[in-house]
Parts: sequence; structure tokens; C-alpha cells
Amino acid sequence: MSKAEEIPEDIIAVIEAPNPSLEMKWNSLYGIDAYKRVVLSYMRDCLDKTKIESWCKRYYPNSNGLLTRMTNELGFSGKVALFGDSGTGKTQFAEGLADALAKTVGKVYLIKIGLLRSKYVGSSSLKVTKAFRYAKEKAKDAPVLLFIEEFDSVAPNRDNSQMHEEVKAAVNTLLEEIDSITPTDRVLVIAATNLLSQSVDYAAERRFDMAVNFKRPTFAQRIDLLTCLLKDFNISSNDIILLTKGTNGYTPADIKKAVKHALNRCLSYNRKLTVRDLIGSLKYVKPTRSYGANGHE
Ligand SMILES: Nc1ncnc2c1ncn2[C@@H]1O[C@H](COP(=O)(O)OP(=O)(O)OP(=O)(O)O)[C@@H](O)[C@H]1O
Ligand SMILES: [Mg+2]
Repeated sequence: MSKAEEIPEDIIAVIEAPNPSLEMKWNSLYGIDAYKRVVLSYMRDCLDKTKIESWCKRYYPNSNGLLTRMTNELGFSGKVALFGDSGTGKTQFAEGLADALAKTVGKVYLIKIGLLRSKYVGSSSLKVTKAFRYAKEKAKDAPVLLFIEEFDSVAPNRDNSQMHEEVKAAVNTLLEEIDSITPTDRVLVIAATNLLSQSVDYAAERRFDMAVNFKRPTFAQRIDLLTCLLKDFNISSNDIILLTKGTNGYTPADIKKAVKHALNRCLSYNRKLTVRDLIGSLKYVKPTRSYGANGHE
């Protein structure tokens, strides 16, 4: 890379995958295997067009240019939005995905960008451009998963009349940059937000060809999560069901917090963990407030 690996200031981190810490993030997300499968396979197909290519050839052998249309006009552009309440695993999912992808394509750069709204003011569109240019350069070496955290701050609704002109310009640039990226550049985009429709610019929202709703976990997902979290503590399956019933409306982060709370107690009293400790913790750890209509059971 020219200018000797100078990382633009809007880039929070550049992490090479595979990497054990990212792998652990992926493997310790429980109860959402279906999301993992769908997003991973979609992103993989976007990077490696051979699957789409052979599908086109098999079913539409006489259609010239179908592959190009599939990738340029009809989706398969490698842009996924993750939305849902705080603590539902979006960040961990996006980071872990880089490792899961690297397992099949060899090496992937996870590039995290965080162009927070406050930073826009006094900042400029140029910074946005620089961050994307950096990602495209890096992609010459290995595919890039560009992760835009807090997308609602990064691409706020431009309808807001109070918005600084400079912010509007930067949002415009961001949208143009997202648009200009194609899997041919070997740059995939993943964005995470608590609110998709309410506070993200509508033009930004439509740039993503897949939006995954990270809902609060269902009964079955909570059983999965609690079984995995408590597997070393000899908690019976009946007690897991009891706990699962008591955690309706909890996010995975809330559930983890309750388990930690109970463990802390047991450590301080120097005794083994029991289901009573866990049930007791639910009195202290309540479900995180919801941002919108992102409901649960
Ligand atoms: N499905 C899950 N299985 C296990 N742990 C989970 C799961 N989902 C979330 N967590 C845990 O919850 C915590 C918060 O996860 P994460 O930061 O990814 O949430 P988020 O959706 O990005 O939240 P925010 O919107 O506040 O950024 C982490 O400790 C993570 O390990
Ligand atoms: Mg997050």
C-alpha cells in the first residue's frame, strides 16, 4: 500500500483474519446458527462468483450478461445490514463473520469504521473517501469486510433540518462510496444499527441487499444460549427450562449479565452455582429497554 500503511483516522481497527479471538466470537454466539449460515453463505457467494456463474450457466445458458446483472443490479453486492436492540449480538456477529469467511477464502481484513456524527462536524467528506480508498487498497491483498458500527450515527436521516451542511455532505459521500463498492473490488460491507428505518437515512437503507433482524431470543434460542453458557455447572435440563421461562424478553447480553451476577455471588460466598442463584439474579438484572418495535415472544 502506498503511503506506507497510513491508516485514515476514521478507521477504528484493521484486523487480519483468521484470528483466534475473532473465531471465538463466532463460536460463542449461540442460538443463531440460521443467521450465521445465511449471511456467511451469501457473503461467500458474493466474493466467489463461481457458484452464481454455474447456476446461471445451468439454468439460463443462453442469457448473456446475466451474471453481471445478478451482481450489479439484482443484489449479490455483498452488503448486509444488521439491526436490532442493544445486546443482541450484532457487533460480535460482524466481527466473527470475518473469521468464518477467512476459513473459506484464506485471508480477510476486518476493517472497522466509525464515523460518528459528532466527528462529522468540522470533519469532511474527504475523510470518508479516504477510509473507503484505504479499504479498496487493502482488498488488493485480501478480501475486506468493511464493518460500519452505529450506522444510525454514521448515516443519520438527512430529513433533519437541524443537520449541519457538512454532515449532509459527508452522508452523501458515504452513500456514494457504499454504492460504488462491488464484490469485484473484493470489499464486502456490513453495517450494524439499533434502528434501521427510524433514524437511518432511507437512501442508506436501500443500499443493503440483505437486512437481518437481530430479535430478542425466542424460547428455543434461550434454551440453546443457557445450555451453552451453563454447560460446566451441572444445572439440570429442567432447571434450564425454568430459567428460560424466567428470561422472556431478555437479550443475550442480559442473560449473560445475570449468569455473571450469580457467579459473582457464588465466588464471594465461596460455594457452587445453583439454579436458585441464577433465578435470584433475574431480580437484579432486568431486560434492556427496547428501542422500538423490535419485539419478542
Ligand atoms: N447469540 C448470542 N450468544 C451468546 N452471546 C451473545 C449473543 N448475542 C449477544 N451476546 C453477548 O451479548 C453481548 C453484547 O453483544 P454485542 O456487542 O455484539 O451486541 P450489539 O447487538 O452489537 O449491541 P449494541 O447495539 O449495543 O452495539 C456480548 O457479550 C455478546 O457476547
Ligand atoms: Mg454493537
